[in-house]
Amino acid sequence: MTRTDGPVAIVTGGAQGIGEAVVRRLHRDGATVASLDIDGDRATASATAIDPDQPPLALACDIRDAKQVEQATSQVLELHGRVDVLVNNAGVAAYFDAVTMTEDDWDDVFAVDLKATWLCARAVLPGMRAQGSGAIVNVSSIHSRMTLAGAFPYAAAKAGVLGLTRSLALDNGPYGIRVNAVCPGYTRTVLVQQWLDTQPNPRETAAAVDEVHALGRIGEPDEIAATIAFLASDDASFVTGAELLVDGGLSARFAS
Ligand SMILES: NC(=O)c1ccc[n+]([C@@H]2O[C@H](COP(=O)([O-])OP(=O)(O)OC[C@H]3O[C@@H](n4cnc5c(N)ncnc54)[C@H](O)[C@@H]3O)[C@@H](O)[C@H]2O)c1
Repeated sequence: MTRTDGPVAIVTGGAQGIGEAVVRRLHRDGATVASLDIDGDRATASATAIDPDQPPLALACDIRDAKQVEQATSQVLELHGRVDVLVNNAGVAAYFDAVTMTEDDWDDVFAVDLKATWLCARAVLPGMRAQGSGAIVNVSSIHSRMTLAGAFPYAAAKAGVLGLTRSLALDNGPYGIRVNAVCPGYTRTVLVQQWLDTQPNPRETAAAVDEVHALGRIGEPDEIAATIAFLASDDASFVTGAELLVDGGLSARFAS
């Protein structure tokens, strides 16, 4: 069921972490939200937990697959008639060595972290152009600006998302469509926990990570979701082609 007056939004990777927080936030703000995730069961469980009475729509979709993206988008269009907001959130971390990484590994990382951003935009842009409005928010990363040893080639993919954001903003601004990027720093999700688990002493590393932030802590998914909700909303009506760093002051300092 379409919710009265609110926008219709698609969020990728909506089953957990930042994506789940975005689904929850947009739903709370009155949007009709479709949560797309490769893990359809988890997306359904998450949507039901967000609102057992009127859950967001959960759709199983592997965003690496153009056909699945088109099908999921068509389903949303059939049900609700329009898409006003796309949040390209789904992403995967990468911890490869440039010498031992295979081409298949490379293609896999870029398929989710970069190509799918275009595939999802491609699916919603015709409708947005026809209606003369729309907002796309791409989730990049602080890795687009500065990165960590061993996180190859995540930084390259996330920097690519910024280039894609600028091009999409320029080419679609004349249609009334805004396209922006959010660059989260460390955010408390499974993705960060998995990285911590690769460290020799995860507890010590977690404490050291907290310490390098101006705010003395890492971010919460709801804090990233709030920024994404702003960029998706009419409050950001003159913001396009922008990248918003949300990192608790991490990048404000250099090592001393
Ligand atoms: N957590 C952080 O510290 C952090 C920092 C900067 C940027 N980011 C970015 O934020 C986004 C969300 O990160 P997170 O920490 O919430 O990650 P997460 O791993 O907790 O959640 C990612 C979600 O995306 C889904 N997904 C993965 N591959 C998919 C595919 N092919 N098709 C559809 N869904 C897929 C997963 O099933 C999962 O539900 C990612 O783009 C990530 O790169 C995260």
